[in-house]
Amino acid sequence: MTSKQNYSTIQDDSSWTNLILDSIADGVFTVDHEGRITSFNRGAEKITGFSKNEAIGQYCHEIFRANTCFEACPLKHTAETTEAIINLEVNILNRDNKEIPISISTAVVKDHEGKVVGAVETFRDLSLIKELHKEIHRQYSFQDILGRSKPMLKLFQILPDIAQSNATVLIEGESGTGKELFATALHNLSSRRGRPFIKVNCAALPETLLESELFGYKKGAFTDAKQDKPGRFRQAHGGTIFLDEIGDMSKGTQVKLLRVLEQKEYEPLGSNKTERVDVRIIAATNRDLMEMMHRREFREDLFFRINVIRLSIPPLRERREDIPLLLDHFLERINLKQSKQIKKVSSSALKTLFDYDFPGNVRELENIIEHATILTKGIEIQSRHLPSYLARRHEPSPATATLPEGEDMSVLDNVERDLIVRALERHRGRTAAAAKELGVHRSTLWRKIKRYGIATR
Ligand SMILES: Nc1ncnc2c1ncn2[C@@H]1O[C@H](COP(=O)(O)OP(=O)(O)OP(=O)(O)O)[C@@H](O)[C@H]1O
Ligand SMILES: [Mg+2]
Repeated sequence: MTSKQNYSTIQDDSSWTNLILDSIADGVFTVDHEGRITSFNRGAEKITGFSKNEAIGQYCHEIFRANTCFEACPLKHTAETTEAIINLEVNILNRDNKEIPISISTAVVKDHEGKVVGAVETFRDLSLIKELHKEIHRQYSFQDILGRSKPMLKLFQILPDIAQSNATVLIEGESGTGKELFATALHNLSSRRGRPFIKVNCAALPETLLESELFGYKKGAFTDAKQDKPGRFRQAHGGTIFLDEIGDMSKGTQVKLLRVLEQKEYEPLGSNKTERVDVRIIAATNRDLMEMMHRREFREDLFFRINVIRLSIPPLRERREDIPLLLDHFLERINLKQSKQIKKVSSSALKTLFDYDFPGNVRELENIIEHATILTKGIEIQSRHLPSYLARRHEPSPATATLPEGEDMSVLDNVERDLIVRALERHRGRTAAAAKELGVHRSTLWRKIKRYGIATR
């Protein structure tokens, strides 16, 4: 009898609703039609640092001080249009003026007669997820190159030593694998950083033009040579020259390049005065130079001069573990560029991407994401937003098996799940130690272990 009485009392004075609202971790608050706060749950108190008493009666922009408050207030938008907003990311200032990233959703509040009397906003603290995100990027990036697959981590490991060695480097890899990124990283990690980094695409110019581009010319060397022009080698003096697509260099130019490599000297076109340079050479190719050498299309002596240190960048299909990381990176970049809020990739779209072979490698992945984001109106990229040529059936790759089934996981979810799995592995399943390393409370870790269906010992 007593408990029943209590129950109805609770229901009557609406504390029941407050009880429920206070039991959830997300922030929830309501505003009246003027934008003054009329309720403020415990989650909201925790995230903002303001107490309910401080918040109630204030204009919401006085409490939240978000970047959107004055330009595009989501609550005002919802109150005026009755349109709900879902998972919009904004930054607010908490009571200590610390910036907190949150994800907000809004809806209108109507009275018994269906008249709009205000709006409700729920919001979620994204600090932890952003921290994890930064951590992942810190762990899995090197000089703007992202990668977490074994071959990429191995390349990251040897890169500083190679960079400092001053030796000529040959970077091999299919189109779009990141050869230019690696060449730039080598220069930036070397003692030549701060000196010029000069790029020359050997495939873009016919033989004579390439030679005058590389070595420069003297006034009168040919009809259009109205004055002396320094070549790219001279411009690169003290720094690094990046000879891209070196497999496309003619054999005549190859001879001249060999001389620079052997004697550090050359003559500009139309000049008989020898110039000396101190330049480090990094060359790149997507062709098989060894095979070209056997076919006598590439000089053997030059090949051995260039091939002092060889960096082979594996194609993306041989390091599919890098796909989520790259996806996440490109999504973030494209969201910024296109002012979009795309957060997720549906599991079936992700599967299509995992099954695809990416002949154009990372650049192709980037283009695919750009294509998809243009077509995506909501927050999730779905299979139908991907270019149709991806939909062809492929043999499922072994990596597919590691993708979680069922519930859609955002790219970020995937990386977060992975970070947790690896922390647990490192600590042999001890959650307390793993939570400590990840900088989260043990209960938070448990919640995530359950959510992601991670097996624990
Ligand atoms: N590991 C990576 N992390 C981040 N971005 C990458 C990575 N690899 C490639 N990219 C991006 O993919 C694109 C292609 O990279 P890059 O130009 O370095 O490739 P490449 O091998 O030189 O291609 P090509 O053979 O066509 O000249 C660039 O936009 C680059 O920023
Ligand atoms: Mg390139």
